[in-house]
Amino acid sequence: MSDHIVLRHSKSNASVQILLYGATIVSWKSPSLRDPEPSERLFVSATAFHDGSKPVRGGIPVVFPCFGAPTHAEHIKLPQHGFARSSTWSWNGVIADEGDRVSATLTLEPTPAIAALYRRPFHLSLLVSLGEYDLSTELHVKNTSPSTEYPPDYLEFQALFHNYFLAPSNDVLVTPLQNLSYYDKTESTEEARATAKIETRAGVDVRRFTDSVYEDAPQSYEVTWPGGGIAIKTSNLKDVVVWNPQAEAGSKMADMEKGGWEKFVCCEPGHVRGFEKVAPGLTWSGKQVLSVIHNARRHQ
Ligand code: BG6
Repeated sequence: MSDHIVLRHSKSNASVQILLYGATIVSWKSPSLRDPEPSERLFVSATAFHDGSKPVRGGIPVVFPCFGAPTHAEHIKLPQHGFARSSTWSWNGVIADEGDRVSATLTLEPTPAIAALYRRPFHLSLLVSLGEYDLSTELHVKNTSPSTEYPPDYLEFQALFHNYFLAPSNDVLVTPLQNLSYYDKTESTEEARATAKIETRAGVDVRRFTDSVYEDAPQSYEVTWPGGGIAIKTSNLKDVVVWNPQAEAGSKMADMEKGGWEKFVCCEPGHVRGFEKVAPGLTWSGKQVLSVIHNARRHQ
């Protein structure tokens, strides 16, 4: 079986490529109403690792069950951002083509390598669905613990879609984040990183090294730049992270192409402040819909 899946939209010629490794979406080509020729909407670093030795630097990796360095006692042996983005997922070979949408579902269950670091039973499924001008990803997390004891054997996790949008980062604005509280991970002390700030900007730019975790956000955002943009709508993903390393942090990353930080912005919806809690037998889902903005406004 191939190591990736390609979905093609018969009407608009949009396409998406998903690696089984990490269920990482590494390409989304979509037309817009202004330009019928599909163009790439995601950034993947030219120096990303594609040999399975490291998560892919770019596209849309899935972050699960921890965001950033692990903080939950059950996650403590896991790498940054968890194991979902560096595990090989399964695909049943089915592409569902309903005309207006084309979809595939990938799944992940504990492998011996995961079980060596993480003791919880789970079933993940990721539904990727391509529309004429949009792409949606929906993560389902089932707690497959057979326990019927009280208190329930909860599965506690964080989850996030780590979207790398192809964009001239120095001209990007992310809205509407004004008045939200956020945590600034670029601060140099633990105390400062853990102290909430209030966003004062009507449009958030990433001209400086930015790593901000907004909590209880509106679940509907626009990432725009002169002449282009992507709208994001989410369900059940209450937080959003805005990240761009700029040269300050980007030049230290082995898998970041030189100047790559000028070509993307990460706007990452997730549940990353606190933990989702799912009782045995139950399933949680979080979804995002990414849509091409056809008439992106010009920035002042
Ligand atoms: C972001 C985090 O989501 O991902 C950043 O907020 C982190 O702190 C970035 O640097 C990239 O992470 P990684 O593990 O892919 O280098």
